[in-house]
Amino acid sequence: PDPRDKLFCHIAEHTRRQQNKISIIGIGHVGQAVLASLLFQKITDNIAIYDRDEDKIKGELLDFQYAAMYSSNTHIEGSTKINVIVNSKIVIITAGARRQKGDTRITLVQKNVEVFQDIIPKIVQYAPHAVLILVSNPVDIMTYITDKISCLPPGQVVGSGTNLDTSRLHFYMSHKYNVAAESCKGWVIGEHGETAVIAYSTLTVGGTYIEDINFKMGESCDIEKWSDIHNEVLTTSANIISLKGYTNWAIGLSVADLAHTIITNNKSVHPVTVSAKGFYCITEDVYLSLPAVLGENGVIEVVRLELSSKECELLRKSADYLYNMQKEIKI
Ligand code: LAC
Repeated sequence: PDPRDKLFCHIAEHTRRQQNKISIIGIGHVGQAVLASLLFQKITDNIAIYDRDEDKIKGELLDFQYAAMYSSNTHIEGSTKINVIVNSKIVIITAGARRQKGDTRITLVQKNVEVFQDIIPKIVQYAPHAVLILVSNPVDIMTYITDKISCLPPGQVVGSGTNLDTSRLHFYMSHKYNVAAESCKGWVIGEHGETAVIAYSTLTVGGTYIEDINFKMGESCDIEKWSDIHNEVLTTSANIISLKGYTNWAIGLSVADLAHTIITNNKSVHPVTVSAKGFYCITEDVYLSLPAVLGENGVIEVVRLELSSKECELLRKSADYLYNMQKEIKI
């Protein structure tokens, strides 16, 4: 007799829950950070990873399997075959050429388009109901491209966008006022990149609007020097890249946070890349970050912010910048 039968009295079949399955496409530095964040925060018990590099997949699986003690028996499988993502509820796309020292996000676009033309239809084939979260840079453009290639219903394709820039802003606010980052609110919107807009009119600490106590926010006579914070938020990723070669931990955590909202259908508001046509007099078909209510099928609603005329103007500039890049791309 099988010793297992001595150990257990068999009652029912083992099953694996499918309703929480999250897949990660690309297991480079960002994919690894997303995986670690999902695993160690116990956001799901079922993860699949896909990469073209078989050794990398094997190595990561081996390394992470010994984290079983600390990760609630989460099932992780990996493959160089895309069908590993079958029936995922969320597919997080981090694949693509890495931004090298001195690169702008724009120089990555054309390299990534070809990869996406191959992989997106396969993702949709194996996981037609999954929310696709784009992380690959330039994320706004890649979200636009993915939305067009995938032909999925509105809201099912979403970009990580300025969710990360917004956490960076909250960090600086928390530092400035010596309060927890979670008690600092407000949004970075627009491009995830140099033309992003810190919407000063939305910033609050402990419920108080900063603009109500500092009418000169961002101006040259601003004694709080918000323009320095603005620069820090927008240039920090380039600084990190010049120091360690890439960014990964904070983006991993911020994407895991989006995945948590979607998988739990908790309707939190996040600034994410969405179709922006029609908002704030944006007339072109561009994708950029606006705060949005997220649920199990992706974006449910976009929040209509009461922006100042200056903020609207900056947002339109960000949209123009993205559109000028986007119109050169052949999909
Ligand atoms: C960053 C990358 C994810 O801003 O674009 O760190």
